[in-house]
This record gives sequence, structure tokens and C-alpha cells, in this order.
Amino acid sequence: MTPPELRPDVPHSARIYDYVLGGKDNFEADRVAAEKMLEGMPSLRASMRANRRFMVKAARFLARKGIRQFLDVGTGLPTHPNLHEVVQGEAPDAKVVYVDNDPLVLVHARALLIPVGTGTVSYLDADLREPEAIFAAPPVKDGFDLSRPVAVTLIAVLQHIVDDEIARDIVSRIMAPLAPGSGLAIAAVTTENDQQGGDHTVQTYNRSGVPVHPRSRDEVTSLFGGLPTVDPGVVFVHQWRPEGEDAETADKDVAMYGGVAFKN
Ligand SMILES: C[S@@+](CC[C@H](N)C(=O)[O-])C[C@H]1O[C@@H](n2cnc3c(N)ncnc32)[C@H](O)[C@@H]1O
Repeated sequence: MTPPELRPDVPHSARIYDYVLGGKDNFEADRVAAEKMLEGMPSLRASMRANRRFMVKAARFLARKGIRQFLDVGTGLPTHPNLHEVVQGEAPDAKVVYVDNDPLVLVHARALLIPVGTGTVSYLDADLREPEAIFAAPPVKDGFDLSRPVAVTLIAVLQHIVDDEIARDIVSRIMAPLAPGSGLAIAAVTTENDQQGGDHTVQTYNRSGVPVHPRSRDEVTSLFGGLPTVDPGVVFVHQWRPEGEDAETADKDVAMYGGVAFKN
């Protein structure tokens, strides 16, 4: 039986995203909402694919900088390659904690929980809006050494926190207990690439009951709370240290800004 909290009749962010990326872990309500978005913004799929590539590039970059503890908040449904596959491919002993508040993501967590190295992969059913609860939970409290750097990845999740001040406060509370040298990767929704298509998608999300707030480049930059971003700063995600399909991706098709920063 479907657990009641799954609410298959109500579209969910992770499942809409899964459908657009070609996954199978979604319900009719998610598909209807996603098809409406694709009608108004056919580039949505290209944008989401560019966002996944940004996650890969940023996570690999942070692992290559020597970080061995990763806190991925707003994980979504398993999509290959998952973040732990990327970082444990670079550093087999890396520890990864996934955090999401969607019950369907939790149902699929077991599929995600397979380390590909000697490190660990844990899953936490928690809310981004309560960073202190994330740090108090055993996978982080007992599994991480907070005297050493942690990489925090907030990939395509902060658009669900519609108030700028609250979003900035959340990021600053997540980064506060972390050691110098810790990293922060953010990818967040914008409509600056395509105002008309973007407005249509955002309205469809909001009408479906999934709050989404697009941000300008300056607003996304301010989410880093003054932490210095590495080159090339906050850019459309396919322009961030481009590789593979990034070169053929048009700016107007990518509704996400992304960047990576370090704590001094
Ligand atoms: C668009 S998906 C992004 C998934 C993945 N990070 C990626 O970019 O491929 C957004 C995810 O954030 C999760 N999410 C939304 N609000 C959240 C909150 N307040 N706390 C934790 N997770 C949240 C959703 O459940 C969903 O899985």
C-alpha cells in the first residue's frame, strides 16, 4: 500500500524532476505538472541535464580539493551518476550524507545507499529549514569530523525557499559550524536566461503547490553570504568549468545559476 504521506495526487519537486530527466519514479500528478511545464518551456529538460552536470563538476572539484565529507541537501531521487558515485570515484574513503524531506526519496534511499568506495553513504530524512537538526542527527554528529572540512551541496533546492532572507539565513546556519576550508556549491533557479519560458514554468510549479522562487545572478551570489566564489563565480551552470555537452548548450536553455565557494 502507498504510505499516505507520499500523496501521489500532489505533484512533488523530486518526482517532477525525475520525470523530466526520464526517470520512472513519479506519479500521474507529477507527469501532468511536468508536461505543462515542458509545453511552456521545452528547454526544461536541457536545463535539468545541465544542472546534473553541474552537480558532477562541482562535487568532483570539491573532492579534488581534498574534501572527504559531503553533505548533499535536497538530494532528489537516485539519478546516475549520484553524488556519492562521483566523489567516491575520486576519493573512495569519502563520507556522504544525503538529506531530503520527500518521503518518496526516503523510500528510494536504499538504492542510493550503496557506497562505491570504502567510505560511507547515509541518508537523512530532514528539512533544510532546520540545519541544527541536520547537525544533531547521528550520520552527521557521529559520522562527520567537524574539525575537518565538509562540502555542502545545495543543488536545485534553494528555489523552494522563496524568501531571500530566510534562504540566506539557512545557508549561513549550515556553514556556521563548519571548519575553514569547507566548500559550498549552490545551483539555483533563474528566469534571467528566458523570462517568458521561465515565468511559465515557475507559475506552473506554484499552481501545482510546489513553491519556486527564481533569482537573479546577484541574488544567487548573495546566497553565498560573502564567501568567496572560485572562478568563474556565479554563472549559468553549463558555463561553470564547461565540459562534455556544456559546449553545445545554449544560454537561453539553462534556467540555473551555479557557483562554488570556500569558507576561509
Ligand atoms: C529539484 S530537486 C533537486 C535534486 C538534486 N539535488 C539535483 O539537483 O539533481 C529538489 C529536491 O529538494 C528537496 N527539498 C525541497 N525542499 C526541501 C527542504 N525544505 N528540505 C529538504 N529537502 C527539500 C525535494 O524533495 C527534492 O528532492
